[in-house]
Amino acid sequence: QRHIVRLLSCPGTVAEDLRRDEQPSGSVETGFEDKIPRKRFSEMQNERREQAQRTVLIHCPEKISENKFLKYLSQHGPINNHFFYESFGLYAVVEFCRKESVGSLQNGTQTPNMAMETAIPFRSRFLSLKLKNQTSKQSCIQSSNQLPPSNRKLFELLCYAESIDDQLNTLLKEFQLTEENTKLRYLTCSLIEDIAAAYFPDCVVRPFGSSVNTFGKLGCDLDMFLDLDETRNLSTHKTSGNFLMEFQVKNVPSERIATQKILSVIGECLDHFGPGCVGVQKILNARCPLVRFSHQASGFQCDLTTNNKIALTSSELLYIYGALDSRVRALVFGIRCWARAHSLTSSIPGAWITNFSLTMMVIFFLQRRSPPILPTLDSLKTLADAEDKCIIEGNNCTFVHDLNRIKPSGNTETLELLLKEFFEYFGNFAFNKNSINIRQGREQNKPDSSPLYIQNPFETSLNISKNVSQSQLQKFVDLAQESAWILQQEDAHRPSVSSNQPWGLAAVLLPSVPNRGSLTKKKRKRSANERVKNLLESLKSNRTANFTETNEK
Ligand code: GTP
Ligand code: MG
Repeated sequence: QRHIVRLLSCPGTVAEDLRRDEQPSGSVETGFEDKIPRKRFSEMQNERREQAQRTVLIHCPEKISENKFLKYLSQHGPINNHFFYESFGLYAVVEFCRKESVGSLQNGTQTPNMAMETAIPFRSRFLSLKLKNQTSKQSCIQSSNQLPPSNRKLFELLCYAESIDDQLNTLLKEFQLTEENTKLRYLTCSLIEDIAAAYFPDCVVRPFGSSVNTFGKLGCDLDMFLDLDETRNLSTHKTSGNFLMEFQVKNVPSERIATQKILSVIGECLDHFGPGCVGVQKILNARCPLVRFSHQASGFQCDLTTNNKIALTSSELLYIYGALDSRVRALVFGIRCWARAHSLTSSIPGAWITNFSLTMMVIFFLQRRSPPILPTLDSLKTLADAEDKCIIEGNNCTFVHDLNRIKPSGNTETLELLLKEFFEYFGNFAFNKNSINIRQGREQNKPDSSPLYIQNPFETSLNISKNVSQSQLQKFVDLAQESAWILQQEDAHRPSVSSNQPWGLAAVLLPSVPNRGSLTKKKRKRSANERVKNLLESLKSNRTANFTETNEK
C-alpha cells in the first residue's frame, strides 16, 4: 500500500513544504518544536484550503481492501495522500494531486436510487463507496484517531512523566490537533463552502478559532466564517473612463439584518441539501448571529458565522503568539485542561470563563514575565509594515504578520516554574480594581464593575469576559490558590517509584478534596506496577468523577 501511495504521490507536496518550513523557535527545547508553524497565517490558510479543494470524503464499507480502493480511485489521477478514520462507520479522506481528478471522480459517480425514500440530487465531494459483490473479506485498515486520549490513559502518561515540564509537553502532544484532524477541519469547511457557493459563487468558508489558532484540542468545535468579501468587492475593480457600473441589489436597514438574512438562507440550505449536516439551528438573535449544526461524517460541531472579520484577525493574533515560543501552547493546554477538569469552563454558554479568555490570561501572564516571554500587541503593531495595515469597522487591527520579524525571547524559565507562577499570579491578582490588557501588557484600572475585565484586543472598549460572574471568578481564584499550594508541596514533585500518589500536573487536575495536604503526605512502599494499578482504581472512584469531563465537547 505504501508502495502505491509513493508511486502516486506528486513530488514536492504542500505537506512536505509545511514540514520543511516548520522551524524551531524560542529558546527552550521541548521536543515539540516541529509542531510550531513558521508560515504566515494567510499562507497556511490558503495552502490548506487549496489542499482541501482537491480532497474528497468517502464513506466506505467496513470490509475493504485499501490497495484495491486506492487503485480504483487512482483511475481519476494520482493521489497525494489519504487516511481512514472511524466515526459511525469507516471514512476515507483522499487528497488528489490535481483538482480535475475530483471532477472526473464525480462524473463517474451516481445519485443513489432508494426504494422507500427520494434522494435530493446534489453533487458534492462527500461520497459513498458501495461494494458490488462482497468479495473483500479482510479489512486491515489503519484508522487515524480523531479523539483525545481517555482520562485513564492521560493519567497514566502523566504519572510516568519525568518532570512537570515533561507532563505539560505530554498533555500538549496528546491533545493537540493532529495533521489528519486539521485536514478534516479544512475539508469540512470546503464542503460547506460548496453548498454556500450555490448562493454566493465567490464565497470562501474559512475555519477560525481554536481549529487554526494553534490552541485547538482534539474534540473542539469547528468555527467557520463565511467570507463574502470577494462578492462584495468585485465591482470596485471594474471602473473605466467616466462610467461606473454597480450591481442592482436589495437593501436592508443594517449590517446585522443583512447577516441574519444571509445566514438564514444558508442555514435552510444546509438543513435541506447539505449531505451529513444534521441538527441545524439558526441562532440569529445572538450578539454574533450564527448557524450551528453537526457535521455527522467528521463528527464536528460547527458554528457558522459571517461578517465576523475581527474573530478571524483574533485567531491570527493567537496563531502568532502560539508560534513564537514553544512554552506558550504547552502552558495554554495545561491551563485549559485544568479549567475544564474543575468545571471552570463548559461547552454550554453561561457565566463561566471561556477558553478564549483563559488564553488571553496566559498570554498576559507571559507578557508580564521578566524578561517577557511574549511581546505586547502594541509592540507587534510597531513591527508592522505598510502591507500589514488593517482597519476593520474603524478598529485598528494592525500587527506584524511575518513571524520571522519578531525577536525570540531571552527568557529561559521552565514550564514547571511558569505553571506555578501562573497560579500564584492569578491567585493574587487584584481583579476588583485591575483589568487585563494584552495590547499594553500591563494591568489597568477597570473601566466598569464587571468582576473579570479582559480588554478585547481589537475593539478596545469591550470586555471579552463580561459574562463571568463574581462567583465563577472566585472559584477560579480559589482553585488557582489551591493549585499553587499543591505545586509548592514537596510531594507534588515526581515521587520515587514507591509512591502511588498523582503528582505535579496530575495532582492539580484532580478535583479538590478536603485535607488533601494530609493525603499527599502519606507515602507507601509499592512497586511501580502496583502504583499504576492503584491509580487506575482510584480513577474509577467518585473523587475523579469531575476529571472525566476533561474532554471538551
Ligand atoms: P474552543 O473553546 O476550543 O472552541 O476555543 P475557541 O477559541 O475556538 O473559542 P470559541 O469557539 O468560543 O470562539 C471562536 C473564536 O471567536 C475565538 O477564538 C475568538 O476569536 C472569537 N471569540 C470568542 N469569544 C469571544 C468574545 O467574547 N469576544 C470576542 N471579541 N471574540 C470572541
Ligand atoms: Mg471554537
